[in-house]
Amino acid sequence: MVRTLGRSDAAHDILEELPEWFGIDRFTYEYVEAAAKFPNYVAVAAPEASPGSAPPGSSGPGVGADGGAISTEDVLGVLLLDQRYPTSAEVHLLAVRRKHHRAGIGRTLLERVEDDLRAQGVRLLSVKTFGPSAPDPGFDQTRAFYSAVGFHPVEEFPDLWVDSPCLLMVKAL
Ligand SMILES: CC(C)(COP(=O)(O)OP(=O)(O)OC[C@H]1O[C@@H](n2cnc3c(N)ncnc32)[C@H](O)[C@@H]1OP(=O)(O)O)[C@@H](O)C(=O)NCCC(=O)NCCS
Repeated sequence: MVRTLGRSDAAHDILEELPEWFGIDRFTYEYVEAAAKFPNYVAVAAPEASPGSAPPGSSGPGVGADGGAISTEDVLGVLLLDQRYPTSAEVHLLAVRRKHHRAGIGRTLLERVEDDLRAQGVRLLSVKTFGPSAPDPGFDQTRAFYSAVGFHPVEEFPDLWVDSPCLLMVKAL
């Protein structure tokens, strides 16, 4: 796990692999823009990013602060964090390359983020995802993941997004 800034290339590459979740061009564009400005937590295949190789909040050895030393194909998953308030933060994007689904990468990315946030005194982590009132097998799996890693559904907002219901989920840190 490595914390970087500005890995929009990796975000774009991973989102293109996952059209069932990110198949709408304007959303992909927005996420890629967000990847250029929000903190990026990336799961990396390279040996220098092995667990424990970097202290919380820093890049790993051999990795520039912009994550530039990591090749795009070595990024297996990406999490973008949006922190608007001192005591809460939101998972803006979380995506793992398809062939690495269900290997613990999503859970591990979140654990690293949560450790960093707790160290800063942040108490609440939220995520907005597609709500259950619009049946979608892909997002059933997404909600199962967030429930499994400790998030609770709070409210579904039918009109917050243009085409889909939005479910707010939260986790106490
Ligand atoms: C959702 C996603 C980020 C999860 O990452 P992941 O690395 O595949 O998930 P993990 O292996 O860490 O799973 C942790 C736990 O979540 C649950 N879980 C994960 N995927 C699941 C699925 N498809 N169905 C049911 N439960 C699931 C399980 O309890 C799992 O633990 P287990 O494997 O020990 O049973 C990833 O599958 C993904 O990128 N999906 C497509 C994009 C997406 O939905 N992003 C979120 C948009 S808001």
